[in-house]
Amino acid sequence: MRPHSVLAAIAALSISVTYASRFAHASTPSQDPPGKAPFEDNCRKCHGVRGVAPKTMKAKFPKIVTFDAEFFERHSRDSIVTILTKGKNEDMKSFKGKLSHEQMEAVADYIKLFGQKEK
Ligand code: HEC
Repeated sequence: MRPHSVLAAIAALSISVTYASRFAHASTPSQDPPGKAPFEDNCRKCHGVRGVAPKTMKAKFPKIVTFDAEFFERHSRDSIVTILTKGKNEDMKSFKGKLSHEQMEAVADYIKLFGQKEK
């Protein structure tokens, strides 16, 4: 190989690596709903992966709710965003400083999926 063809080969390789990593980046988060990460980071420890609070949390917080179809008949997306903004009672804290309004809406949409799948 002459030097310039080696350079061309390296250039071609680095371009394809750049493309591949860009693809990997773009495809991973887009598979998850936008509310999933903020839910897992902020809510999951009390409310559970699928919106059903773990036993230990139920013992600690008897009033904790299950996010099922019945729950969403009584709670609109807006009312959930309001709860996240203002908090409810002592144990359900406000997430105003932690989540943006858009993230709260995304989380509300995400937990609504639990209600749909329960049916
Ligand atoms: C420290 C544990 C804890 C964390 C963390 C937590 N919650 Fe809660 N959540 C509770 C408890 C306890 C209740 C029941 C409050 C009550 O009715 O007194 C509750 C209630 C709720 C309710 C129902 C309120 C109602 O009107 O009945 C919603 C919706 C909710 N949480 C959503 C979330 C979301 C979304 C997150 C994450 C952004 C979150 N919670 C994080 C403990 C937690």
